[in-house]
Amino acid sequence: MPSFNQKFGNFKKPPREGRQVTVGKVADVPEGRGATVELASGAELALYHIEGKFYAIENFCPHKGAPLADGNLCGHTIECDWHGWRFDVRTGQCLTTTSGDVEAYEVVVEDGLIKIVV
Ligand code: FES
Repeated sequence: MPSFNQKFGNFKKPPREGRQVTVGKVADVPEGRGATVELASGAELALYHIEGKFYAIENFCPHKGAPLADGNLCGHTIECDWHGWRFDVRTGQCLTTTSGDVEAYEVVVEDGLIKIVV
């Protein structure tokens, strides 16, 4: 099983506040791609556009801290670019190890705008 390095923490994970944050337009994220979303607070998320739906998870691989927005997207699975850990972008579940889940955030699309519930 891959090692899990606890010294790397996601300092850019947005706090849960129960509010919608508009992060861009639907046209800004091409189908089948990921994008890094920077919030006004300095927090950061990874956003994916898959089969007409949007998904958001932490932009931080818990293995060594790689940005998950830059990984390789295959279906609903993002594979970390650095060492290949895999995550389900719908839930944040790590498919490589049982201790590597990341948080997933609800995404709402209204009037062509992408809003993430943080
Ligand atoms: S940083 Fe190693 S798998 Fe993501």
